[in-house]
Amino acid sequence: MKYNFDKLTDRRGVNSLKWDCAAGELPMWVADMDFENAPCINEAVAERARRGIFGYTVVGEEWYNSICNWWSVRHGWNIQKDWLIFTTGVIPAITSMVKRLSETGDDVIVQTPVYDIFFHSIENTGRHVVENALIYNGESYDIDFADLERQLARPNASLMVLCNPHNPVGRIWSAEELKKIGDLCLKHGVTLISDEIHCDITAPGTGYTPYASLGGQYAQHCAVCLSATKAFNIAGLQCAAVVVPNTLLKAKIERGLNSDEVAEPNCFAAVATAAAFGGGGGWLDELRAYIAGNREEVRAFLQKELPQLKLVRGDACYLLWINCSAVTADASALANHIRKQTGLWLTAGKQYRGDGAHFLRLNIACPRERLRDGLQRLKRGVLSFK
Ligand SMILES: Cc1ncc(COP(=O)(O)O)c(C=O)c1O
Repeated sequence: MKYNFDKLTDRRGVNSLKWDCAAGELPMWVADMDFENAPCINEAVAERARRGIFGYTVVGEEWYNSICNWWSVRHGWNIQKDWLIFTTGVIPAITSMVKRLSETGDDVIVQTPVYDIFFHSIENTGRHVVENALIYNGESYDIDFADLERQLARPNASLMVLCNPHNPVGRIWSAEELKKIGDLCLKHGVTLISDEIHCDITAPGTGYTPYASLGGQYAQHCAVCLSATKAFNIAGLQCAAVVVPNTLLKAKIERGLNSDEVAEPNCFAAVATAAAFGGGGGWLDELRAYIAGNREEVRAFLQKELPQLKLVRGDACYLLWINCSAVTADASALANHIRKQTGLWLTAGKQYRGDGAHFLRLNIACPRERLRDGLQRLKRGVLSFK
């Protein structure tokens, strides 16, 4: 390996959301990684910082080119430059699009358990969350298409927010599944937002299908959210993109992002994104291999040391979804107990709705030594839970 993912990084003392916790605690909750950045990103940001003047900034050609090239080479989707809109984050963009593409009181469909901030984007703007609950088959999750159609057919359903690949269940939706979702949305006149922020962290040798790469009418009724922030861990730089192949829809979304003031970059945002997509491929592939190793470490540990916990099978994200229903029907009580007893801070699944009350979410994007510490704490916490 060229890059050292084993290095025990110290993230305390810089107001990190993840690491600004009590001494001795081990945070493995928020989707934020503990590895040093890809060197190409640090060099590009340092070079920009060396210029020493940080005035208003626009996104340059290199931002557009790096994104188009990355998706074309890595994911087989040819994005045209004029489909792209810069935005400060996927969530700011989703909130803005919910406001533009639906009315107050409308139903917005999501597939639960799912990234909880989707609920805030929908509910804080006066819309209703309508759940199409995913089905746990004892190993992984499937889509209940009959239920999805029922929800999409609701008279006030105007929008669906898809998570592709899915946080937290780790599924990469197949092209067939995406087509089925798209067919149902099209049949019922529902616009689709596809959040693809986790698409670059997949098991080695495994890819994903960008929703809009299905082409034709599928591409025409959707907005796709992309970002370098998860795969390259640069969320603190606030940069993302919305891709909208339909001209009218794009104009509408762009107006919304502008009037919500979430369409202007800070002077490091586009620089970091262009550096990541321009030169970070080798680093990312090593990272994916390392994360696959961490996933295997957890699987083997649970099987041997904690068989009462069951790891859900998934090929994407560095967030593991763990069924704890053999221990408790209340994963929140278990998560609280684990944190109190051992300092391990993971996420209780209830906040993702659906069947989340039976699950814990564990972030494994950390050096293996730290992961092993986390697993020992998890064991102590589970075994002492009454
Ligand atoms: C599915 C999903 N979408 C969006 C985000 C956040 O995106 P941003 O930081 O660009 O708002 C996350 C963060 O974990 C996520 O998991």
